[in-house]
Amino acid sequence: MSDAAAHIRRDAPDPLFPASGPCERASIAPYCQRVRMMVSEERFRHVMRVAALAETIAIANAFTGGELRATALAAVLHDVARDLPVERLMELAPPEHDMEREHPLALHGRAGRAIAVSWGVTDERVLNAIEQHVSGPPPGDRVAMAVYVADVSEPGRGVNGEVRELAMRDLARAYRRAVANKVRYLRSHGKAVHPRTLKVYDEFSDQQS
Ligand SMILES: [Fe+2]
Ligand SMILES: [Fe+2]
Repeated sequence: MSDAAAHIRRDAPDPLFPASGPCERASIAPYCQRVRMMVSEERFRHVMRVAALAETIAIANAFTGGELRATALAAVLHDVARDLPVERLMELAPPEHDMEREHPLALHGRAGRAIAVSWGVTDERVLNAIEQHVSGPPPGDRVAMAVYVADVSEPGRGVNGEVRELAMRDLARAYRRAVANKVRYLRSHGKAVHPRTLKVYDEFSDQQS
């Protein structure tokens, strides 16, 4: 376990805090330290749970070594921009349409990608997974799907338990279920749905019809 994760664990025992995870890898631990400096403690706990779950999902779905490492790194970095002030998000990722102008938090995926690039990350699988974890990646991108599913179903969320279980057997189906759950939730609460999420949702609907 990296110093950042070990420190959090020691200070406040938490039954949901993963016993192990990607931050134990020497190649990923420095990123865990950097993320720890960028987000709240509560957010960092979420990130550790997402990273541990994403890695488990990747192993359960027989990812290659390269995909596994990309998934773990993307999960560690996915919310690196989540706690930045709105003005900084706008600088890092200028809004592309009204939805993003009205809901600037939706920019934290693209802003996170920009930060990862500035930290020297070049693997497009990692960068795409960070960028698309807010709106949902195109179906078929296994690394990004694993991060998305882990993000919405990590145990601290208290929802999407069935998505988490399904992801251990069939990642593509779990992703489809996760996107459908999100669209239905947002619509039932009268909230805006990101255009990219709707595009993914419509693609799934077309496949089923
Ligand atoms: Fe996020
Ligand atoms: Fe997240």
